[in-house]
Amino acid sequence: MLTSSLRRSILQKPYKSQLDSIFKVCFSTQLQEPSEPRVLTAVPGPNSIRLKQELDTIQNSSAIQLFVDYTKSVGNFLSDADGNVFLDIYSQISSIPLGYNHPALLKAASDPNNLSTFVNRAALGILPPKDFADKLKSALLSIAPKGLTEVQTMACGSCSVENALKAACFWYQTRQRNGGPPSAEDLESCMDNRIPGSPKLSILSFKGGFHGRTFGALSCTHSKPIHKLDVPAFDWPIATYPVYKYPLNENVAENDKTDEKCLKEVQQLIDEYSKKGVPVAGMIIEPIQGEGGDNHGSAKFFQGLRKLCTKNKVAFIVDEVQTGGGPTGRMWAHEHFQLDESPDIVTFSKKLQIGGFYYKKAFRPDQPYRIFNTWLGDASKLVFLEQVVKVIKEQNLLENMAKTGDYMLKGLESLQNKFPNIVLNARGKGTFCAIDFKTPALRDKAVKVLHKNGVHCGGSGSATLRVRTTLTFNSTHVDIFLKKFELTLKELNE
Ligand SMILES: Cc1ncc(COP(=O)(O)O)c(C=O)c1O
Repeated sequence: MLTSSLRRSILQKPYKSQLDSIFKVCFSTQLQEPSEPRVLTAVPGPNSIRLKQELDTIQNSSAIQLFVDYTKSVGNFLSDADGNVFLDIYSQISSIPLGYNHPALLKAASDPNNLSTFVNRAALGILPPKDFADKLKSALLSIAPKGLTEVQTMACGSCSVENALKAACFWYQTRQRNGGPPSAEDLESCMDNRIPGSPKLSILSFKGGFHGRTFGALSCTHSKPIHKLDVPAFDWPIATYPVYKYPLNENVAENDKTDEKCLKEVQQLIDEYSKKGVPVAGMIIEPIQGEGGDNHGSAKFFQGLRKLCTKNKVAFIVDEVQTGGGPTGRMWAHEHFQLDESPDIVTFSKKLQIGGFYYKKAFRPDQPYRIFNTWLGDASKLVFLEQVVKVIKEQNLLENMAKTGDYMLKGLESLQNKFPNIVLNARGKGTFCAIDFKTPALRDKAVKVLHKNGVHCGGSGSATLRVRTTLTFNSTHVDIFLKKFELTLKELNE
């Protein structure tokens, strides 16, 4: 809240100094990371419990873990409403790129030149700001996956996926029409959800995958029943995502066989659905299944999928909503796979602050309003992304992720050797790491004890702890995390 004297002064002072005053009031704390977590109350503390009860009178608040004091959260440390300070290895479900209250973003937020973008949310499909193309180039196209030359912005991960699926269907049907326009029958029948205008097409997805909760995306999501329950779903093919034996270097032959089996199944499903008259227009897959238990597909598997998509004329959609933006040590996780040909579409959101998808020219819709909604994202997020990209490049944050991740993985492996009765299968790329627990109950308990010990974290799948850091997480943070994790494992072992 602004004080009345501040409000008065805003009316009098020149604009720039008004902003400086607001800035000082909002961020009066020293914006420096603490050296250690600090837990003063039970977690959640009394303030979080009270606020949750209050919110619960308005909506179902059961998923809420803590209420946060964002003005006091700094870098990789999250402050809650009870004055507890946690090392954050979850970063708002993997969506904070540089840490809390990063100076480059605060500066952009307080720059008078950016205010009109923040205050006037543009309907980007019809009335974009005059610098929109420049911003798309500097923020998004400068980090585009190789081979993908166009980009469409969206508001969130689910709607990015939703529209990527539509783009695949447009592409497929345009080819069926040999590039020609739709017929009168196409236009008439689609109004009643009938063929040929509403064609029978399918999207192939993978067991354990997560692609969001909107209607179409949900038919591709298979991570937890609670996401899907009571919602009608398309009868679309669902293939097996490879689940490997760890350590990888000791199980090469067996894991290779798993890849071969999974690829064979994909081809069988494509054939089966084609015979059924519901051909596969697109395939959607995560490079690492981020919600479904941190399953990693191998480079060989992804190379095989790319080939199958090309051979069967299926759009290859790689969902990088969770993996994209650098945590794996590359801007895009699929870059680890050295594909002969790039994916056809790559979806993003989270760390990029704005949703959307990159695509090859062939996937550009041929008419307006086919991929469209009111806002199509938010131009203010591009202002921040521009800064994020600048900081990533200036500070070599991708390299930081690769190095920090190696260090973290070694630490996790050493803890798994120390506590083999509790944890196993440490794995990761960059700091996008995970470790399994022997049982779901042990994992759930570990998440609670880690909080008590000052680490904010989250699970994935049924028995996995996932690490999702910001890009500024470094070896000092890793040391704190590993110390607290060891303490937690000791407590679980008692
Ligand atoms: C791979 C993937 N796709 C899509 C989504 C959906 O994104 P959102 O939650 O922004 O709708 C998520 C969210 O976690 C995700 O991890």
